[in-house]
Amino acid sequence: MSSNDGAARRSAAWFAAEGRNGFIHRSWMRNQGFGPEVFDGRPVIGIGNSWSELTPCNAHLRDVAEAVKRGVWEAGGLPLEFNTMSLGEPLMRPTTMLYRNLMAMEVEETLRANPLDGVVLLSGCDKTTPAMLMGAASVDIPSIMVTGGPMLNGKFRGRDIGSGTAVWKLSEEMRAGKLTEEDLREAEGCMSRSRGHCMTMGTASTMACMAESLGMQMSGGAAIPAVDARRYVLAQASGRRAVELVEQDLRPSQVLTREAFENAIRVNAALGGSTNAVVHLLALAGRVGVPLELGEFDELTAQVPVLADMMPSGRFLMEDFYYAGGLPVVMRELGDLIHRESVTVTGRAIGEEIADAECYNREVIRTVAEPFMPAGAGTVVLYGSLCPDGAVLKVSAADPELLNHRGKALVFDRVEDYTAAADDPELPVDRSTVIVVRNAGPKGYPGFPEVGNVPVPKKLLEAGIEDVVRISDARMSGTGYGTCVLHVAPEAAVGGPLALVRTGDTVELDVPGRRLDVCVDEAELATRAKEVAANRDTEDEGRARRGWAKLYTDHVMQADRGADLDFLTGAGGSEVPRHSH
Ligand code: FES
Ligand code: MG
Repeated sequence: MSSNDGAARRSAAWFAAEGRNGFIHRSWMRNQGFGPEVFDGRPVIGIGNSWSELTPCNAHLRDVAEAVKRGVWEAGGLPLEFNTMSLGEPLMRPTTMLYRNLMAMEVEETLRANPLDGVVLLSGCDKTTPAMLMGAASVDIPSIMVTGGPMLNGKFRGRDIGSGTAVWKLSEEMRAGKLTEEDLREAEGCMSRSRGHCMTMGTASTMACMAESLGMQMSGGAAIPAVDARRYVLAQASGRRAVELVEQDLRPSQVLTREAFENAIRVNAALGGSTNAVVHLLALAGRVGVPLELGEFDELTAQVPVLADMMPSGRFLMEDFYYAGGLPVVMRELGDLIHRESVTVTGRAIGEEIADAECYNREVIRTVAEPFMPAGAGTVVLYGSLCPDGAVLKVSAADPELLNHRGKALVFDRVEDYTAAADDPELPVDRSTVIVVRNAGPKGYPGFPEVGNVPVPKKLLEAGIEDVVRISDARMSGTGYGTCVLHVAPEAAVGGPLALVRTGDTVELDVPGRRLDVCVDEAELATRAKEVAANRDTEDEGRARRGWAKLYTDHVMQADRGADLDFLTGAGGSEVPRHSH
């Protein structure tokens, strides 16, 4: 690690400048009540805050930022908090995923354009974590993440209910006639009863654990509940650490190595974590130039059992996970499957960080010898004639009886068409039907929404059947479950074979063999491809014609490339050679 004295700091180009430019840079900052001493060459630490009342999961981050500031001042830095774009799952349409890359760009450009030597990234809700990591990685100034922490466990009528997972479960119970609308209204306040992000092992908790296992968040940080005083202790320590990171010039490119990604991928498998982590890790790897292929996720996790008994796959929630010892226990338990020498934002190797981790509840976090589920039960990658560039399925969230399945396809071109038909008592479905929903990928929707776990047809629910094979080019919520094949690539909207399937075709899902095939011969598929191409309506209403959505659809890559924009791969660095005045 090289050290970095004041003269070499980025911020010196602004605050140590003489003449007119230096006057401008310092004078306006003085209006905030800073004395001249803050421009003495101390590290300037940005606090990137994705706080927003439109992102309830991040709404408490202003308080977290105050704790970070204490730490920065304490260590002799100058903290400067700034807002970033914020992405809230509960409200944003058509999907936050349409905006992950926009937020990443916004974070990247804000960091680069300002006199920042380092940054503390405050995230929470699903996409805010990968977006901030992607932006910071692209600038590659010393960076540390503090996620906002999960909500306290949901409590409804004497039982624990998990964010998101309860939404899917309770709404299916209502469709099956077991709960009323009033029951559901009561559950709303019981599920979300404190500040913080979803407390299931959904995408937010998963990505917080990814930030920690990648080494970008302090060890033990991911699981601390948002309202626990120890989160503020962590935030203050992270503020102090940000100043040291600048002094040591420890950058994301030194932390986000191939080994770090391998650690994160294995941790995700051990957590039974979100399928969305696959997309976000691929995109982040693209930013730092670490070679990583979708198919490698399967190879890397072949020996990794699921250790965490967490919703949506299992029973427990993030409060339980924290009290059981949290992520360091999982990583320690994985033993040699973890690259222990990977450096983290603490400056120490991850092996040192987790060496003394102790488990306090073996029901929540199991051992490798007696896992919650065997190896291969996390997210697996499928290939085949229906998904030449891959698709994913989360085994732990699926019905084991459907993992080797042949059935007739029932195809819907728009998710809205399926939703309108799902409750129809005449819908031609049985337990063996394979529901195909397409045109819901990155370009097709556009934005790659979480609609892949479409509801089970009401007719089946009433017959006591709670799962059915579903295939789409969409994603699903990290809190979702079911036998859902997701992220089919290439997507239907760019002419992938998913566009060629017809109702009545036989589809074969072979999870043990990692295959997904449509049993139609190649000549027939070629004929259909010509027809589909001739009939493609490029002016269809979902197509974006202007603004961000146009830029996004023109440049978004497929799911197997992390759905980043093609011109954002590779790091841009932090250089800005030209002045503003
Ligand atoms: Fe924000 Fe789940 S909705 S974390
Ligand atoms: Mg989600």
